[in-house]
Amino acid sequence: MTLRAVVRGVGHYLPARVVPNTEFEDRVDTSDEWIRARTGIERRHFAAEGETTSDMGAAAALAALADAGMAVDEVDAIILATSTPDLTFPSAATMVQARIGMKRGFAFDVQAVCAGFVFALANANALILSGQARRILVIGAETFSRILDFTDRGTCVLFGDGAGAVVIEAAEGGGGSDDRGILATDLHSDGSFRDLLYVDGGVSTTGTAGHLRMQGNAVFRHAVEKLAATAHAALDKAGLGPADVDWIVPHQANLRIIAATASRMQVPMERVVVTVQDHGNTSAASIPLALSVGKARGQIKTGDLLVTEAIGGGLSWGSVVLRW
Ligand code: ACO
Repeated sequence: MTLRAVVRGVGHYLPARVVPNTEFEDRVDTSDEWIRARTGIERRHFAAEGETTSDMGAAAALAALADAGMAVDEVDAIILATSTPDLTFPSAATMVQARIGMKRGFAFDVQAVCAGFVFALANANALILSGQARRILVIGAETFSRILDFTDRGTCVLFGDGAGAVVIEAAEGGGGSDDRGILATDLHSDGSFRDLLYVDGGVSTTGTAGHLRMQGNAVFRHAVEKLAATAHAALDKAGLGPADVDWIVPHQANLRIIAATASRMQVPMERVVVTVQDHGNTSAASIPLALSVGKARGQIKTGDLLVTEAIGGGLSWGSVVLRW
């Protein structure tokens, strides 16, 4: 018997305000046509004034618990991936813990920017495999609208706010690649690429939150190359190949990156969950949002083999192969 971390429930939350591409036409020199053609994005959600990352994370967590039919006091831990926490400390995860009325266990944040959910899921898997927790809420939640420079057309049109969550549980598997649960993980970082994608403020530098800065073209090239490589590596570790994949659930940054990665993996776009048109890039929230929307659409079904892959600031990138 092999211990596996199996997804029992999934949920998401999107703020009410939908921002169409046309709203940026008055602010910067851009057009709905350019944004759609170069990114695939049509709209995104922005959090309301006063609405925070932990507010959205808590809503997504409660939705995931409801989907799992699980009570809050059955959860042993919360891992929340974010680069836009409510406060410098305490962690957004502990704020979610308080908000959902969880009085036991432990909670902490993971920060790997757009790869945050993949890193959080890999860490949750390790906690389950090492026996430190049996049920974990893994959340991705972001308010990227708060760190955007709305005078920079190269970045402000790309990002959105939202949250997604899964609840995973320890279960016995047979040890083969037909087991349900997480089958393999593959994580990487290379801090020498810091200047390609960063926020120009922080606690120990400027004392401000700062704004997102990106060399989009260079990040694009790294993304296409590194995402396919990490997805292949994780599939290899699981003893599987691209032909076994039912769904790629990629980080939703740019439709051209998603399509190029799928093409390199030789997986047709019919087997890729795409939400970027409706959400924009929600950083660490994008994969759990896509999992939740993909399930609600009837795409992702029990027993399907999924590959999630993401890259973000750091650079940090990775993938998780799991059977739903
Ligand atoms: N509207 C109109 N023109 C624009 C806009 C815009 N919103 N943004 C940039 N342009 C212009 C540029 O100024 C440039 O003009 P120039 O030729 O006169 O200098 C031209 O369009 C081409 O710019 P590129 O950057 O080469 O455009 P590209 O096709 O690469 O698209 C984009 C830019 C969408 C940012 C793309 O590079 C991209 O998606 N990069 C990857 C982003 C990503 O994946 N991030 C993931 C991690 S995010 C995280 O971790 C937080």
